[in-house]
This record gives sequence, structure tokens and C-alpha cells, in this order.
Amino acid sequence: MNEPLCYPKIEVVTLRCEGLTSASQIETLNPRFSWKLSDTGGTRGRMQKAFELNLWEVDSNGNEMGYSFSSSTVNSSKSQWVLLEGLSIKSRSLYAWKVKIWDEQGLESDWSEIHSFGTGLCGEKWFTPWIGDGRHLRTFETAPARHFRKSFMLEAMPVRARLYLSAMGFVEPWINGSKVTEDLFIPGWPDFRTRVFYCAYDVSHLLESGTNILGIILGDGYYSGTMIPGHQYGVEARFSGFLELIDSAGNKTQISSDDSWKWTDQGPILLNSIYDGETYDASKELRGWCDSNVSDDTGTAWKDVVVSQGLHGDMMHMASTGRIAEPVRRQETILPVSLKKIGDQKFLYDFGQNFAGWVRLKIKAERGNVVRMRFAEILENDEQIHTENLRTAKTTATYIAKGEGIEEWEPLFTYFGFRYVELVGVVEPLVDGLTGIAVYADLEESGYFECSNDLLNKLWSNTLWGQKSNFLEVPTDCPQRDERVGWTGDAQVFAPTALYNMSCGNYLRQWLYSVRDGLRDDPLNGGVPDMAPYTGFFHGSAGWSEALVLVPWAVWQHTGDRKILEENFPAITHLMELMGNEAKDGIRKSPESYGDWLSPGYERGHYPPRYELIATAYYAHAADLTARMADVLEKPKLALHYNYIFEQSRRAFRKAYFKRNGRCVDDFQTSYLLAIGFNLLTDALKQKAVTHLVRTFKQKNKHLATGFLGTPLINSVLTSIGETDLAYDVLLQKSYPGWLFSIMNGATTVWERWDSWTPEHGFHKDGMNSFNHYAYGSVVKWLYDTVAGLKQISEFPGWSHFRIEPKPGGGLTHAKAQVQTPFGRAVSSWEKEGNRFQLTVEIPPNSTAEVVLHVSDPGVVQINGVSLMKYSYANLKQFYAETVIFDLPSGEYSVSV
Ligand code: BGC
Repeated sequence: MNEPLCYPKIEVVTLRCEGLTSASQIETLNPRFSWKLSDTGGTRGRMQKAFELNLWEVDSNGNEMGYSFSSSTVNSSKSQWVLLEGLSIKSRSLYAWKVKIWDEQGLESDWSEIHSFGTGLCGEKWFTPWIGDGRHLRTFETAPARHFRKSFMLEAMPVRARLYLSAMGFVEPWINGSKVTEDLFIPGWPDFRTRVFYCAYDVSHLLESGTNILGIILGDGYYSGTMIPGHQYGVEARFSGFLELIDSAGNKTQISSDDSWKWTDQGPILLNSIYDGETYDASKELRGWCDSNVSDDTGTAWKDVVVSQGLHGDMMHMASTGRIAEPVRRQETILPVSLKKIGDQKFLYDFGQNFAGWVRLKIKAERGNVVRMRFAEILENDEQIHTENLRTAKTTATYIAKGEGIEEWEPLFTYFGFRYVELVGVVEPLVDGLTGIAVYADLEESGYFECSNDLLNKLWSNTLWGQKSNFLEVPTDCPQRDERVGWTGDAQVFAPTALYNMSCGNYLRQWLYSVRDGLRDDPLNGGVPDMAPYTGFFHGSAGWSEALVLVPWAVWQHTGDRKILEENFPAITHLMELMGNEAKDGIRKSPESYGDWLSPGYERGHYPPRYELIATAYYAHAADLTARMADVLEKPKLALHYNYIFEQSRRAFRKAYFKRNGRCVDDFQTSYLLAIGFNLLTDALKQKAVTHLVRTFKQKNKHLATGFLGTPLINSVLTSIGETDLAYDVLLQKSYPGWLFSIMNGATTVWERWDSWTPEHGFHKDGMNSFNHYAYGSVVKWLYDTVAGLKQISEFPGWSHFRIEPKPGGGLTHAKAQVQTPFGRAVSSWEKEGNRFQLTVEIPPNSTAEVVLHVSDPGVVQINGVSLMKYSYANLKQFYAETVIFDLPSGEYSVSV
């Protein structure tokens, strides 16, 4: 039966170029375009049948200049990663585009809004010199930030002005007294041994005719600042860049970084360091340092810059790469939930949420008054912050007042991971004396989950905060101690969840540049670094190194961006070769690494199961995924080859570690989870191993006994073997070790250890004890895809066709997940009352979904009040073993059982 429907016009929205809503320096002359269709009218089965895309070059005001292109009508349903035939754009330009579509009934949409993007160097070599102040920083040394300036004359105003800026260190660009951007920590954090990033900004609105001043504040950041464990990329921070001006006749001029620039270190930032914090003396503010109206800079000693063309071999030939990841920005303000006086001029603030960023200080104080803030995640007691887990990081912000009324300050080149702030040096704080500022990458928050159990809601929120706190320049392990680096293992286990929570495909793709750049070609113990960008430490650790395979795969699955596979595939096959050298007979033997890191009850270096078992399981799994990638990339020979490797090593794995009765020689949860999760057993052996897996949970009283590598697999593996109830039981344990234990003890983010703090023992005795590590939050994917039931299907990367299969349990009466897929919003929301089950689903236009319900009779299923068997939009595909599967086209539906 058909429902009466009206057909409002479909709208084309959320335009992206190369996957980015804001793309100011894409690195390709063959960009891919994506858009979403928005259907406000409650219609069904809206699909795109054809599209037309128009593109034209623009000046800074959006006026057309030069090139234009029309795709004409293209009969295609493709709305993601669309390549255009015959498009011819050039580097260092600015373009605008719009698109319209025809739906399945031939109805034409209006034109979309206009979206613009810029092109970067697109393969051209970086050509401007690098300038700095020539200072060399020793390891662990901290120093003032430096100000640079350059004045230039403009006779006529350009029609387009773009600033291209690269740095080894952090920069904050200014023009004529205004900040160019709100982006933070730019131009980013690559593996500086081989690559630098650059950003481009349109700055024409900041220019004036006559004298102009270009200013740069330069900090040490990740480059010359020291990162764990005493790692420094280079001793001398510097930057390079050019302002490119185009006049109405198309003539180009450039204002470049060269020897005409001046610098000073007499500015207010006396110390800048990621780990140690920042010291700011407001009385040293350089008034008018970048103001064209204040031409007199004589009060400050401006010196000549040091110009370098070559270092690191030849810096001019380092790969200059336009960043593709969304930049870090201030994202949220967080107000304190309590303020307590804990001593003379000493106060304790509680922000109620652990997060990464800093505070905005507001004070009224005498000139020279020193205010000091220390940041901590947790308290020792009511008045004492816990700083032991920061290890050597000083995490201190110091402000020296200028004594001019109300003063406000935020640090620039540092950040902290904290919930509490100890403020010293203020007699009486102002009402809004401190405001928390959460900073993280500017990613769309694309996922939402809620259910009838508040502890699970808190787990979801704690995990999201873990992501916000650790998705700064690169995905890090933690935001507080002297670490905050891109541990590959952590990112690998968390990526599938991260992609649900936030649209982070490009973000992870950019991080993978560093994973690849760090690949070390060593026949023994080669592979990708355990931390990317490389920051010292080892290479090739099992479960860490394979991030190079697992993360591209996860991104591909979620976004449908094929380029992430193409781009990483050569490095992946290289890595497989290196691992293959250590696995001649299928068993991967290389030096021990982290194992099932931090599994409860074991000392470091002794986490079971044995190292080779983990390494082999990961090796086999990586081979399996590599084979599947080869398939996608249409490389059948390589697909065969890696399939062979997969088979060889899974056979060796079974032989070495599994007895005929399905018991593993290392009888631990993680052994079975890896074996089943990575499909390493035969069906018959799996049947037997399942009993052992279940037993290992029962022996622990339905508690987990896993570390970083076993934990992410628990719930999905238990569900896959029909033990969903057990999965719920393990998840819902409130006692140690389990996910809810930290929540019962007040956690607002996910802890690094199951016992980071316990009522019996207090803080874990090891100083390596973060309260904001996302690795264990990897279970959140299961909340989305199983509890609420919104699941991506492997054969349909990018959510063009997905599954809705909720698995109620754990006493929940309601659960809901909402995900912004590349096609638009998908929703699965269910409610249970007695034996009535009500499911509300939303499938975005131009995509379809299959609904899987576990019922004994399809006859009991109704959609929008009509029996499933009669509902014309539903296509009943299968009914077997109390499972009914039917397809639905786009639209909103209410399904009841
Ligand atoms: C980090 C981890 C990382 C681990 C590897 C720790 O110090 O914080 O999250 O994966 O080391 O050993």
C-alpha cells in the first residue's frame, strides 16, 4: 500500500571539495566534489538521477574572473567524491562552484548555495626562503616567542590576496593589527624530518592602500620544543611564506619571507612550550608592532632576520604539503562549577569536565602582579591538585599584569589537559575570573547516542570528551603529561569509534602522512613508528604498526574516500613486506613490544597473551585487509598474494596456538578475541573456541581482563557469536575492571588504566596514569552499531547502503543513535515496552538501508501502521531463523513489532 506523498523540491546542501567544507589549499588539480540532498517533506525513496555542476574562478570578493566550467547534465547518482571530466583548474587560485540535481522522478532542484575553495601549490616546489632569529634551543630548554614584521606599500588594492604560510614551529599571522585567522597551532605537526605543512588564507579584507604591515608571532611548538623522550626535530624555529597579490589585469606580485624582515624577542610571551606552558608579561606587549598606523617601532630593538635556504639537507626541497585536516580552534567555553579559597591568594577552580585547552584569565591587578595557574585532571584531596601524573610537564600558565583596568589573557602556543585549576596571586578573583576554553580540531560532531541507562550515556560522553581532548593537531594518547603524541596503537583501536563521533576522515588522512613518512625500512624491526609523527621510540610494534593498514581501511569504510587507500597502499605493501621478513613461516617474530598494553593485574612487559600470538594475529589481519584493499583498487594479483599470506599465517596461528578442542595455549580473553575477531579460526574450531572465550569471561565473573588490543574486540566479538547478553553484562559491570568503574568514581573522560584510581589503593603507583586516554572508549562504536543498531556495511563504503539492526539488551528500554553519514543524517531509535518494540528510522536521500529484526514471524512487523508484507516501499529480502531482513529507501519510518 502506498502512502499519499507530496514531493517538495529537494535541496542540495553541505557542499564539500575534497571532503572539506572549508578547503583553502587543496593539493590537487583534479578535486572531488561531494554534496548532500536534503529532503524536508517526509518523502520516501528520494534519489539523485542526474546532476549539473558549475564552477568558475573568483577573486577575493567572490567576483567571477577568468575560467569557468559547466559539467552540463551528467546522468549519475553519484553525490560523493565526484570527479569532473574536462575540468581544468590551476594552482594558487580561488574557485566557486554550485550544483543542482534531478531526482528519481526527474524533478529539478534549485541551485545549491555557492561553495568556494582554494588551490595550493599542487606539486610546485616551495620557493620562498626560511627566516628566523637564528637562536638555537637546547633540548628541554624553553624560550620567548618572537615577533616578526615586514612593511610594504600598496599603490592599488589587489583583487585577490592570499597568504601562504609554512613554519617549523607555530605561527600566528597578523596583518595591519588584526589576526589573520582563528586557527591555532598552525601550520601543524608533520614529521618534520621530511615534510612541512603550509596553510593559505585569503587576506584581501585586511589590506589597505598605502603602508601595510605583515606580522608573525613564532613559537617553538612541536619543532624546536622538546617532546617525549627528549626528542627535538630541530633547534631553530623559523617560517617561510608569501603574500600573493593579483591585480585586476591578472598581474601577480609577492611579498615573501626574505632578509628585509625584522624580528624581536622583547614581546610579552616570555616562555612558550607545549608541556611546560606559557609565561606572559603584559607590560611587555608590543603596541602597534603590526599596526600600519603606528609606524614608530623604535622603542623595540628590531633586528635583522637570519635567512636560510638549506638545512636538513635542503629545506627548500622538503615536501611542502597543504594541510587537509581541519585546524585546531577554540571550540567551547566551559564555566567553572565551583570555586574555593584554599589559601592566601590561592584558589581552586573545578570546571566539572576534564578537557584540553586552557582558561581565559580576567583580572584587575597592579602592574607587575604575578598570577600563576597550574592545571590538573584530578584532586589529591579537597584542596590539593594531583600533578604526579603530569610527570615532567610543568603545565603552568603565568601572567604578569600591566595594571591597566580589567585585563584578559589566554595562552597561545601551549595547551593543558585538566578539570581543575589552581590559581595563585589573586586577592579576590573576578566573578568571571577564569573561563575554560576547550580547543580541538574543527571537526563536525557527527554522532549522537543516548539510551535509558545514564551510565552508558556517560560512557558515550566521556569518550567523546576523550576524543575532543586528544584530537588536536594529531590524534594523541593523552593531553596532559609530558607525552601527548600520536601513538599509533591508540589511534588504530579508536579510529572506528572516532569516525562515528566526528567527521574525521580528512583529519586521519593527514595524520597518515606522518605514519607513512615515519616508515623505517629495516628488515628486522622496521615498520611505522609507534608514535606518528615520529617522536623517538620504536618502530613496528605489533598492534601499533598496523595502524597504517587499519586506519585507512576504517576511513574508507566510513567515508567512501578511495584516495585514502590509493595514497597509502604503496606504504602498506611495503610494511607488509617488512612484517613478512619477520614471519617467514606465518608466525611473526620480532622483538617484544607492548603486548596487550595495560591489561589489568599485570606488570609492564608481562601482559598476556604471548607477544608472538598477538603479532601473528595482527599480521594476518593486516594481510586480510590489504587483500581487500587490493580488490577495491583493482589489483587482482596483489589481492591473491595477500590472501595467500592471510591464509598462511592464520593456518600457522591455529597450529601454533590452538588445540583441537578449541582451547588456546594462552588461555586469555584477548587470545580468543583476536582469533575470532580477526577470523583466524576454521568454522569448526571457532565453534569450540567460543566456549572457551565465554568461559574466560565467566571465570572473571563476567568482567573483562583485557588491555588496549583485546578490549576493542570484546563486544563486537561476543555479539558475532550470539553472546550479546554477555557483552551487555561485561559492559555494564560497575566494579573493577570494567568501563563503568571509572564512571562510578566520578570520571568525566575515559581513564588510561582500569585502575587509574581505586578506593582501596588510590592513584595507580605508576606515574604513567592519565585520566584522559581514549583507547578503552573504543567500545562506543558498539553503542552506535549494535545497541542502537546503526551499522555501516563493508561492501558499501561511505554509507550508500547501511544496516539498521538494533540488539536490545542489558535491561535497556530505549536507545537512539544518530549519525551524519556522507549522505546525510541516519537515525535508529528504539523503545521497548512489554513485548512491544517500536523502531524509528531515518535514511538520508540517495542512500538505502536494510533493516534486520529478530522476530519469529514477519507478519508481526508493521511499518507506518501497514503490515510489512503489504508496505510497498519495503522490499522483503530474507526471512530465516527468526530474522527478517528488508530494504527501505530513504525516508523516515516507524516500525513496530
Ligand atoms: C602511551 C600509550 C601508548 C603506550 C605504548 C604510553 O605511554 O600513553 O597510550 O600506546 O605508551 O606503550
